[in-house]
Amino acid sequence: MTGDLRDRVAFVTGSSRGIGQAAAWAMAEAGADVIVHYNKFEEGAHATAHGVEDRGRRALIVQANLEDPEQIDRAFIRIDEAFGRLDIYMANAAATAFKPGLEMRPHHYHRTFSLIVESLLLTVQRAVPLMTRGGRPGRIITVSGHGTTFTLPNYGSLGSAKGAVETWTRYWAYELGPMNITVNCLSPGVIDTDSARYYLQDRFPRLEEAATRATPLRRLGRPEDVARAAVMLASDAAGFITGQVLRVDGGISLTSGPFEEIRD
Ligand SMILES: NC(=O)c1ccc[n+]([C@@H]2O[C@H](COP(=O)([O-])OP(=O)(O)OC[C@H]3O[C@@H](n4cnc5c(N)ncnc54)[C@H](OP(=O)(O)O)[C@@H]3O)[C@@H](O)[C@H]2O)c1
Repeated sequence: MTGDLRDRVAFVTGSSRGIGQAAAWAMAEAGADVIVHYNKFEEGAHATAHGVEDRGRRALIVQANLEDPEQIDRAFIRIDEAFGRLDIYMANAAATAFKPGLEMRPHHYHRTFSLIVESLLLTVQRAVPLMTRGGRPGRIITVSGHGTTFTLPNYGSLGSAKGAVETWTRYWAYELGPMNITVNCLSPGVIDTDSARYYLQDRFPRLEEAATRATPLRRLGRPEDVARAAVMLASDAAGFITGQVLRVDGGISLTSGPFEEIRD
């Protein structure tokens, strides 16, 4: 086991699929009860919740479009009613319009920033009172990505929003440290998920081949790779780590990367 999360309550946004689903299962495996969140993919959220229960833990499903502050409030009211506290919050949900900057319309940009940056502000504001209530250490895990440091095709909106997430990680870590809450960011490389395949469309096989060659560990990442790192950051083992961005990328950031090969 990567870490011991026995008797912890964890909330993972965007846990209806991909990395969030794997994180929910990994946290349950390590002993946490998990609040599973989805926006549209209800079936996926139920599959995640069943996986949590199969691991002997309690699951609560909450639906919320995180672009909407009222829906964020409602989700936290449900968490408060069901558990009365929160130990781990993983801000994982994301979506964007993949477009070149010259074709980007204000609403595309606003939606990406509302979902990824503004919702981080609002959810952390709601999570902290639940974390400080239990007298236990709190853990906040944000998720950024390769596109904050490296330029990827049509990725400017998401990359810049994730850059803001990394910066907020440091500001939250500074502000919440005195409350015994750590705040760290996971930065995945290329992870084989629905969204990676959707982003790359028919370029995915080329990217897979090029990324495998450019990755010292010689494979694409899997959701479980990121999930295990999330469990580690949530565990007592990471109790003196805060404000950091941890790359989970098999070392691809050490090379010049495969993306030029798939740029049109
Ligand atoms: N996959 C990669 O290669 C990669 C690389 C770097 C970073 N990341 C980051 O890792 C995280 C997870 O990525 P992933 O590939 O697992 O993503 P994914 O498979 O696309 O899943 C995205 C999740 O976000 C939720 N979501 C989307 N729009 C939402 C909204 N408006 N309100 C609330 N929830 C919403 C989705 O909910 P529904 O399905 O219910 O609609 C889904 O659960 C993201 O932050 C992503 O940027 C991924």
